[in-house]
Parts: sequence; structure tokens; C-alpha cells
Amino acid sequence: MNKVRIAILGLGNVGRGVWKILNTNKEEILKRSGYDIEVAKILVRDASKDRGIQVPEGVVTTNPDEIFNDNTIKIVVELMGGINPAQEYILKAIRGKKHVVTANKALISTNGEALTAEAREHGVALYYEASVAGGIPIIHGINESLTANKIEKIVGIINGTTNYILTKMTYEGVGFDEALKEAQAKGFAEADPTSDIEAYDAMYKLGILASLSFGTQVDVNNIYREGISNISKTDIQYAKELGYAIKLLAVGKDENNKLELRVHPALIPSSHPLSNVNDVYNAIFIKGNAVGDLMLYGKGAGELPTGSAVVSDIISVLRNASDYAETANYSGGYWDKKVMDMKDTFTRYYIRISVKDIPGVLGRITTIFGENEVSLSSVIQKEKKEGLVQIVLLTHDTHEGNINNAIEKIEELNSVEKIENIIRVEEF
Ligand code: NAP
Ligand code: HSE
Repeated sequence: MNKVRIAILGLGNVGRGVWKILNTNKEEILKRSGYDIEVAKILVRDASKDRGIQVPEGVVTTNPDEIFNDNTIKIVVELMGGINPAQEYILKAIRGKKHVVTANKALISTNGEALTAEAREHGVALYYEASVAGGIPIIHGINESLTANKIEKIVGIINGTTNYILTKMTYEGVGFDEALKEAQAKGFAEADPTSDIEAYDAMYKLGILASLSFGTQVDVNNIYREGISNISKTDIQYAKELGYAIKLLAVGKDENNKLELRVHPALIPSSHPLSNVNDVYNAIFIKGNAVGDLMLYGKGAGELPTGSAVVSDIISVLRNASDYAETANYSGGYWDKKVMDMKDTFTRYYIRISVKDIPGVLGRITTIFGENEVSLSSVIQKEKKEGLVQIVLLTHDTHEGNINNAIEKIEELNSVEKIENIIRVEEF
């Protein structure tokens, strides 16, 4: 029987999941890969921490040299997160001719192309299925199963933590902070949950998906990003009354080699399947010019779903033993495509404004929208709250530049207290 020794960097949520799967599904993995996998070393910061699992004496270490100086270790699985030392360790592994599997979207989205080049040069694999959408096999799908297509569009819910929070706020009336604490306790959130809440995590994931789908190297700094910290129960309630759910959405479109890339909260019609993707579940729609519409759905975070993607990558490494140059493919750089300016994007908007209860204020607001070529599909005056009237507007499709111009003028009105929220509405 073939034996292979591997090392895992990190024994947190995902590391623990990988450990459990390697032990629970040992026989299946042996049959499918042809290898008996031995976890030789696991690198952590604090070796004395209780992790709720039994790891044999001598496996857990705080010394990375025990891994990188050991030529019998053939695969390094990076599950620490962050840029450094994760990148430093991955480079050490690649240069030492060790294959690498990682779940690190922050690193792959920013340095994936260079790391892939390094892996190719050294004839080893660099796989990162778990970096996007947890257990959903989306990277493999794009890199292997959809290569016959010109991919035109990807729209998805690709952050489990924010989806969990928004679901709890929508259906159980749970507050933001409490819902976040629950998501952290369940192992969904990043070490610093700001990455989830402010949509950096979804931005990194969209960067990877867009680079692979559109065949270009996307600079994540060119992706428009807006998180969910400004979403209140009031907006969720009003959206519900209007027939929508609020989700953190990632949108990537390729229109004649011009890319539209944005991550932000959006109102989604309740009749659309994405509006029913709840809790930690993720879903990704892809439109290919040959395959048409596809949707992948599954758990987007958590130890076992993410561990599933990581262990599958380990098995792919073992199965593909001959040709890593082809499969270690961060396929940026085939085409040079520009990213569209956000002011040129064309969508509908939900706008909530607090105004003083003065005759004529609604008329003045709608006039300003008209003067800026923003056509309104619905205007609702809600009940008074703390002496202020809430006005909720839905626009037809409009350029973001026109919305910005109108909002600037509306903010100048004496009768307007505050623009409470502006949320894009995604129609499909
Ligand atoms: P985590 O629970 O914070 O675990 C990180 C682990 O890495 C800990 O065991 C920590 O050691 C170790 N570590 C961190 N820095 C280290 C260093 N400098 N030297 C040695 N060990 C170090 O994180 P996680 O949730 O498992 O996430 C890991 C990676 O997977 C991240 O890239 C994340 O974005 C990605 N990911 C996570 C999920 C998810 O559902 N959580 C899903 C998909 C992808 P100590 O325990 O000793 O502190
Ligand atoms: N923090 C991430 C999420 C983990 O909640 O989606 C999965 O990548």
C-alpha cells in the first residue's frame, strides 16, 4: 500500500474539520486516492490549547522547521489564514518540492498568480478549492467542468457569516451582535470578523471567481465593496413588505471584455431562489454561453463542509501525481480586461430617507429624482418615528452616477434629516 506523509498548518475550525474527515473517512480516502495518509505534523501557535480532538503525541508542533526540513513530508495543507507567515510557508513548501493545498482566499486572491507560477516552476500542485464557498466545488467546476464556455456572469451569496446574520435578523428578529456571536461560535467567521461584515472576505472570493471565470487577473482593489453593518431591522422589514429579501451579493459580469465587479447588500425578489438561500448556505449562479444557467448550492463555511473541500484537494494531488502544471491553474492573464467604473453600473435602488413632517417634502424629493433622470417605480410614506417621517423609494434601472447626483441635491434640502440607506436591487 502507498503511504504519504502530510503536514497541516493550523488546527482551528478548518484544521479540525480536516483532521476529523481524514480519520472518519480513512477507508474511502484510501480507496479513492490509493494512499494511506499520515498527518506527520500540525503547526499551531499554542500547543497546549484544548481542541476537543485526540492527536497523537509529537504531531502538534510550534516549530515550522520540523515540517519544512523534513523531506518525507510531501503535502503541506495551509489552514492558518492571513497573508504572512502563510505566504512565506507556502513558498517554502513549494520551493522544497512539497505540494500545497490551502483555504486562504485573502492570499490566493492577491498573490494567486505568482504562487501558481512558482508551483509550476517547481512541478508541484497548488490547490485552493476551499478558498471560495466552503464545501461547494466551484473552483473545480470553473477550472475543469466549464472550460468550454465563455462565462458571462457570476452572481452569488458567497459569505456564510453575513448570510447567517441576515437570516437571523430577518426570520428570528435576532440583533446583529448576537447573530455574529452565534456565527463565530459555530466556526463560520474569520479570525477577525470585520473581514466578513465589511465584505472583504466576499471581495477576495469574487476576485478568485472572476479571475478564473473571465480569464484575467483581477486586482481585488478594483472590486466595489460594501458590507452589511449599515443594514437595520427597519430596512429588512420594509424590504420584506415590498417583496424582497436583503442578502450580501457578489456580482461579476463580463460585457464585451468590460468587467462589472461588485460586492454589496442587495434586495432580491422573494420569488428568486437566491432569496431563499439562508443560514450558512451559499449559492452561486453562473451563466455560460454554452451551458446556459447553472446554480451551485451548499454550506459555505464551517469545519466539515470546508474540510470536505480541503481533503478532496489532497486526494486530487495524490491522484494527479504526474501533471501539476496543468492543474495548478490560477488562470489569470489570458486576457486583459478593464473593470467598469461603478458610476456606469445600471441597477435599481431602494432608498430610505428620514424627513421632517412638512407639506411638500415628498414632491421636492421626487422632482429632484426626475431632474436627474431617475425614474421611480414606487414611493411609500411610512409611519412617523421619533418625529420624523420615513420615505421609502424604489427606482427603475438607473445609472449609479444619476443616483449619486440626485442624492447630493436631496441631502441639501432643509426638510431632509438623513438619507438612512441606499441599497441596490438585483433583478434577474
Ligand atoms: P482559525 O480557527 O482562526 O484557525 C487558525 C489556526 O491557525 C489556529 O489553529 C492557529 O493556531 C493557527 N495559526 C495561526 N497563525 C499561526 C502562526 N503564525 N503560526 C502557527 N499557527 C498559526 O481559522 P479557520 O476558521 O480554521 O480558517 C483557516 C483558513 O481557512 C483561513 O484562511 C480562512 O479564511 C479559511 N476558511 C475558513 C472557513 C471557515 O468556515 N472557518 C471556510 C473556508 C475557508 P492556534 O490555534 O494555536 O492559535
Ligand atoms: N468566514 C467565511 C464565511 C468562511 O463566513 O463565509 C468561509 O470562507
